[in-house]
Amino acid sequence: MSPDPRLCLALDVPTAADAARWVARTRDTFGTFKIGLRLFCAEGPAVVRQVRAAGAARIFLDLKLHDIPNTVAGAIGSLAPLGVDDLTVHLSGGPDMLRAAVRAAEAGDIHLLGVSVLTSLDGPALAATGVERSVEELVVQRARLAAECGLGGLVCSPREAARLRATLGARLELITPGIRLVPGTEGDQKRATTPRRALADGADRLVIGRAVTAATDVDAALDALRDACGAQPTSAGAS
Ligand code: C5P
Repeated sequence: MSPDPRLCLALDVPTAADAARWVARTRDTFGTFKIGLRLFCAEGPAVVRQVRAAGAARIFLDLKLHDIPNTVAGAIGSLAPLGVDDLTVHLSGGPDMLRAAVRAAEAGDIHLLGVSVLTSLDGPALAATGVERSVEELVVQRARLAAECGLGGLVCSPREAARLRATLGARLELITPGIRLVPGTEGDQKRATTPRRALADGADRLVIGRAVTAATDVDAALDALRDACGAQPTSAGAS
């Protein structure tokens, strides 16, 4: 069974050993494995090579970088030799930071993804930071900025995928977390949706965490996920 390039497993686990076990168990299903801040801070850069050695086809390092252009470019240059495939930066870092990040990512053969607005921020929270626009307006504005600055893709809510696809066309890869297989298991994901719906709305890759890693029957969850995604297309997924 070959992994589906549209599916990404979020390795939100405390240790590299836990991550390696999940990769070994699910590498036939997931084309990408995402290492977040928790795992990276616990284990350091070596965790990227450990996840690769466990059999990950593609590695998404979700560090959400945000600093001055020179510092972000330097960080990306330091990450490139580890074999990172996808990396996130905050679009709120502005055009100079984003262009510097794109140049460094291109030099390091990294696919750069922008985080538009954190899903934990709502209107009042944005206003408290001095941003008076609505979340929806800000997401579209920052998505346009990502395209103008040459980023490869965007992390967005699955509920925003259809609107962004309509606004941006096929210019950016859309990657959506907030995926649930069973209605009623949203937990802290306020705007979750199903894999089928997210793909139909224009998502290219789906980030899935607890729907698999916290499932009481992991094999059943993996079967349900594959079933929901239908046959694997030959051209979709990571570019
Ligand atoms: O367990 P769950 O499927 O909710 O995990 C979703 C993953 O996607 C987590 O690693 C989370 O940090 C990440 N994520 C998110 N919302 C965003 C960006 C990233 O849930 N806006």
